[in-house]
Amino acid sequence: MSSDLHEHLKFFGALGITGVSRDPAWRRRAEPDTLPDASVPPAAGAPSPFETLAAPSLSSPGTPAERLAALKVEIGPDCQRCKLCDLGRRQVVFGVGHPRARLMFVGEAPGEEEDRQGEPFVGRAGQLLTKIVEAINLTREQIYIANVIKCRPPGNRNPEPDEVAACEPFLLNQIETISPRVIVALGKFAAQCLLRSTEPITRLRGREFDYRGATLIPTFHPAYLLRNPPAKRDVWEDMKKVRAILVADSRAPQPPA
Ligand code: URA
Repeated sequence: MSSDLHEHLKFFGALGITGVSRDPAWRRRAEPDTLPDASVPPAAGAPSPFETLAAPSLSSPGTPAERLAALKVEIGPDCQRCKLCDLGRRQVVFGVGHPRARLMFVGEAPGEEEDRQGEPFVGRAGQLLTKIVEAINLTREQIYIANVIKCRPPGNRNPEPDEVAACEPFLLNQIETISPRVIVALGKFAAQCLLRSTEPITRLRGREFDYRGATLIPTFHPAYLLRNPPAKRDVWEDMKKVRAILVADSRAPQPPA
């Protein structure tokens, strides 16, 4: 057994997956016309296979990479738009990943490790998220990861409405710029915020929503999975849907470049 396959099976075991999917879209994963092979980096200067499938937004000038860079400058390294700037946050955690990612994850807010490193989802929950991403044959470099709010709330308390209100325009701008095909909302807070819903995550998860030109899929937060490993099975079901949408989309005729 190749070590890659061994690693994959080990992770599926960790996710609580004991069987093999009969989903035809899933079985086609090795065929050349399905998702591009994440393990093969694009040639220098060439767009990644995921990039070529994304239609750039026409609403403001610049490439998505340029627009994200400008947005990051606009937030600034020392944002003062809400009280979190005075409550112990070290830095603004903007977001990370491919500017034209077809898959975007949205979490709640940076935790301690994210606040230290300046990158979303790099702590324990983040490491689990990375494994989840890799389980659908993608890498962190091919997706985009952001949070609803960009600064760490003290003691990891829930973000407050004024903090969300101050930060949300930046998230919405990130979404419009990247224009992902699928958005995965991680946990109750992100799902409720994006969907303007008060329904519990247990009612939102398992459903798909049309959201700003993307399909939004709410799922459990990786931090919750660390506390409740059996819920990994549900997240796995959600990720299979994500992958099926991306596979189907990569087969559809693409708009002219
Ligand atoms: N939890 C989140 O919601 N976001 C992070 O970036 C890290 C942990």
